Amino acid sequence: MSQPGPAPPFYSNRLDDDIEEVLIDAATLRERVKALGDAISREYAGRDLLLVSVLKGSIVFMADLIRAISIPHEIDFMATSSYGAGVSSSGAVRILKDLNMPIEGRNIILVEDIIDSGQTLSYLLRMLQERRPASIRILALLDKPDRREVDVAVDWIGFSIPNAFVVGYGLDYNEIYRNLPYIGVLKPTVYLPHE
Ligand code: IMP
Ligand code: MG
Repeated sequence: MSQPGPAPPFYSNRLDDDIEEVLIDAATLRERVKALGDAISREYAGRDLLLVSVLKGSIVFMADLIRAISIPHEIDFMATSSYGAGVSSSGAVRILKDLNMPIEGRNIILVEDIIDSGQTLSYLLRMLQERRPASIRILALLDKPDRREVDVAVDWIGFSIPNAFVVGYGLDYNEIYRNLPYIGVLKPTVYLPHE
């Protein structure tokens, strides 16, 4: 007979125990972030550069990335939330925190943790383009190409990954797991109701 269990989620006190598979380990992340930092440093040498990080998922990536960039640059942050499941397909995104500075005439790189449906990035891109930056390019640490609903031209991608729910290195499930130093696939037992 099945017992009615407590409601999910069921976090372990050792977050590692909730991970089914490590998809990208810390050393691989470090190496890729270094290569991306080098590429950006070469490409923007002698030019203005403002990195815009989309909170909160990209903070760990952003913190490592800026230390891999050797040229002068500024950073700023935005925070968004989607209006909910129904609205995510319409691409409506709520701005919780806007940029602190104007971006007219500036070279922007939008730094994201992951591009999934593409709705968030395509909305942000449209919104920021209205402010007339000199250029705007997109860097996403992770890409799930199979999930794309909206076509977004991403200029740099850290890693292409299969369609699984991943956490760690800034990415969360229910605001937890951001502190894991690697990208891992979450065990479904964490978010599925128990028998
Ligand atoms: P999009 O608008 O569907 O492209 O959604 C992108 C946002 O969804 C990301 O910035 C993440 O916050 C979240 N997201 C998508 N896939 C995952 C995942 O596998 N793990 C954690 N967050 C995810
Ligand atoms: Mg995000």
